[in-house]
Amino acid sequence: MAAKTYKICCLPGDGIGPEVIAEGKKVLAAVGAKADVEFIFQDHLIGGAAIDACGDPLPDETLAAAKAADAVFLASVGGPKWDSTDPNAPRPEQGLLRIRKGLGLYTNLRPVKIYDALASASTLRPEVIRGVDMVLVRELTGGIYFGRRERFYDEEGAGENGGRGQRAYDMMEYHEYEVVRIARQAFEAARKRKNKVTSVDKRNVLETSRMWREIVHRVHDEEYPDVELEDLLVDNTAMQLISRPADFDVVVTENMFGDILSDEAAQITGSLGMLASASLGDGVSLFEPSAGSAPDIAGLGVANPLAQILSAGMLLTYALDMTEEAGWIEAAVERVLNEGWRTRDIADESTPADHILGTSAMGDKVVAAL
Ligand code: IPM
Ligand code: MG
Repeated sequence: MAAKTYKICCLPGDGIGPEVIAEGKKVLAAVGAKADVEFIFQDHLIGGAAIDACGDPLPDETLAAAKAADAVFLASVGGPKWDSTDPNAPRPEQGLLRIRKGLGLYTNLRPVKIYDALASASTLRPEVIRGVDMVLVRELTGGIYFGRRERFYDEEGAGENGGRGQRAYDMMEYHEYEVVRIARQAFEAARKRKNKVTSVDKRNVLETSRMWREIVHRVHDEEYPDVELEDLLVDNTAMQLISRPADFDVVVTENMFGDILSDEAAQITGSLGMLASASLGDGVSLFEPSAGSAPDIAGLGVANPLAQILSAGMLLTYALDMTEEAGWIEAAVERVLNEGWRTRDIADESTPADHILGTSAMGDKVVAAL
């Protein structure tokens, strides 16, 4: 019997999800054996897999199991199989959004770090990406993702320029308390890092952004005057992220801006397959790679499991307070990369063919390096 046991609710989901989560579990189990901790993994349905099984992308049973666990470990959801022209058909992504909301996971941390060994995998020049080490703090349960939305017919526009009268809207709305709490998370994170926060908005156009900026500054002035704060418009941020990525420390922004900027930030490192994430609230936390379900390579055994494995590291840090053990995972990943092992997505012309590994072989390498 191990000294401690933890219940991990596992949600493999769709596409490459089941393949990469298997490697995440493998690594966690190996860490557990070394640290005298037992992880009890229980798989549950989410996304398209859950739609296929019971017509609901987030079955009640899954949410209940997540709430009862010590941490939730999720892979990915979605795929063309569930694309439908029927606006009322259930969509896999709803499962993800509902579990975020259901667990109150308003903070999403997405660390973006350059591994020296992967510098050449980036599409940016080595001197531009040297020293990149930032964390995106994305607001995760508000904004346009959760606002009122509607699609309807409006006689008035029908017939004009071939339009048949369809209309739709998605509302972006924020409450003051939602901005206050995410701002605090960003400032707290900055204090443990390089003490700098970049707050991203679109103040020149959006009312939500004008409120966002005002509140972020108030929280800063009243509670975190020691942290350096800069504001940046979201379009300008998209540009600065690739022109001076090493200048960023903590970047805080609303839900949809964060979604878009995090894919861009991930590409600085060379691959979306390297980006881990932690979603935190006031209860159980959730850990998932920021990559998608990559349906084009699902089932081929070639997906990069490192984002999932690094998410396991974040799980140890944030959910179980096992910071030292999380360090083992990070060091093991770094070592495997330094030894030249690659999955297809992070390989380049200089990678010998026998150093390009499949999903499971990459997981084994990390376990061996632990
Ligand atoms: C992400 C993903 C999700 C999001 C999708 C799958 C709903 O892109 O976690 O970044 O938009 O939040
Ligand atoms: Mg995204």
